[in-house]
Amino acid sequence: MAKGALSPRVAKHGPVPGFTPGYLPLSEGWMSTPELDGLRAEAWRQTRNGRFHALELGVWKGLATSALTLASPLVICVDTFTGTPGEPCEGTDTFLDFTRNMRSLDRHNFVVLRTTTDDALLELLGTPGIGTILVDADHATAQVARDLRGAWRLLETDGTMFVDDAEKPGPKAALRAFAPDDLEQVSYVTPKLAALRKR
Ligand SMILES: C[S@@+](CC[C@H](N)C(=O)[O-])C[C@H]1O[C@@H](n2cnc3c(N)ncnc32)[C@H](O)[C@@H]1O
Repeated sequence: MAKGALSPRVAKHGPVPGFTPGYLPLSEGWMSTPELDGLRAEAWRQTRNGRFHALELGVWKGLATSALTLASPLVICVDTFTGTPGEPCEGTDTFLDFTRNMRSLDRHNFVVLRTTTDDALLELLGTPGIGTILVDADHATAQVARDLRGAWRLLETDGTMFVDDAEKPGPKAALRAFAPDDLEQVSYVTPKLAALRKR
């Protein structure tokens, strides 16, 4: 396919219905507008302060990514696209929807996507340098706990790590147990979206 050409899928289906230049339609995920606004505002604060990288663990079809890419020049994304127990993905279709959505927003150049596990990606990324992180993959307590520890290591001083579904049992338990020395404060964009600031 020629460089810059639309994939056959995008060409066939066109932009996502309800497309706006801002966020994807809310039907593409589980974030509310205030939550997307919160992600975007913090990512923008980080970018203004010279921290240009964001990281999203678990992207699904890219709704939160559509907010992060409005403010961060580079969003590192990871997803197995196999879903979580009880919430299976549509496999290849979800992968195609993510890439199609990024392209329909013209933000595909703001995203680096690894189709692997969160564990594998966190091991790959070595040093801090990330200003904004969203933890939103497998919501089992043990996995969220691993994601919190692994991602925190990569977060810059004064960076913010968001945790979605913070009111659900798995993330809630993992958050309660997470207390690194350099945790400045925990606040909530909404009861569902926690924001952990690093000292
Ligand atoms: C709740 S959805 C993410 C929603 C997305 N952040 C948004 O705002 O639209 C969870 C995603 O995490 C992915 N996932 C689950 N377990 C994972 C793992 N261990 N590693 C990477 N991705 C995983 C699933 O495939 C699914 O797409």
